Amino acid sequence: MKIDQIKKEFPIFDEKIQNNDLVYLDSANSSQKPKVVIDRINEFYTKQFSNVGRSVHYLAVAATNLYENTRTSVQKYINAKDKNEIVFTKGATEALNLVANTLGQKYLEEGDEVIITELEHHSNYVPWHFLRKSKNIKINFAEINEFGEVPIENIEKLITAKTKIVGGYIKILRLFAKEQIANASSDKKSIEA
Ligand SMILES: Cc1ncc(COP(=O)(O)O)c(C=O)c1O
Repeated sequence: MKIDQIKKEFPIFDEKIQNNDLVYLDSANSSQKPKVVIDRINEFYTKQFSNVGRSVHYLAVAATNLYENTRTSVQKYINAKDKNEIVFTKGATEALNLVANTLGQKYLEEGDEVIITELEHHSNYVPWHFLRKSKNIKINFAEINEFGEVPIENIEKLITAKTKIVGGYIKILRLFAKEQIANASSDKKSIEA
């Protein structure tokens, strides 16, 4: 699919902003929505709106089914083992705090290491900073290069036997089991960031 075709899916680009075409560079903060999403949200609010998982009347059951079916779709899309691995949050900040306050609180011990990058938004720094204060963990920062990128090697070289979590500016997070850390040095391809 060509970029122009993708752009046509987003009605906001039909708007002139102060008489100029819109160039939007704030997607990590708030992403624009394609028509299909806008229409679906409109349809839900217009014809199907109810709460999820909290009532047993017709509309609530239908809304709950839609929500749970979406969990299954996402599971299949990212090839997760179980649909219960899919947890919806309202954004990156909430998701990262959830990971830090659950998995982080349970599995991280004094001296364990978390890798993030020098490019991090505070949503992926503050939760680890609080764990550093409360549990005395260490945060290691993968360096950016002159192009503003974080080469995978800069992450790989920080991984040690004490690394438990690698979280990158691309917002994908992975909790490493000890065996995976051991394998990581011999099988670089298994590393995700
Ligand atoms: C670059 C960047 N990353 C991450 C976030 C956090 O995302 P969310 O609003 O989904 O918590 C923001 C939000 O301001 C952002 O601008």
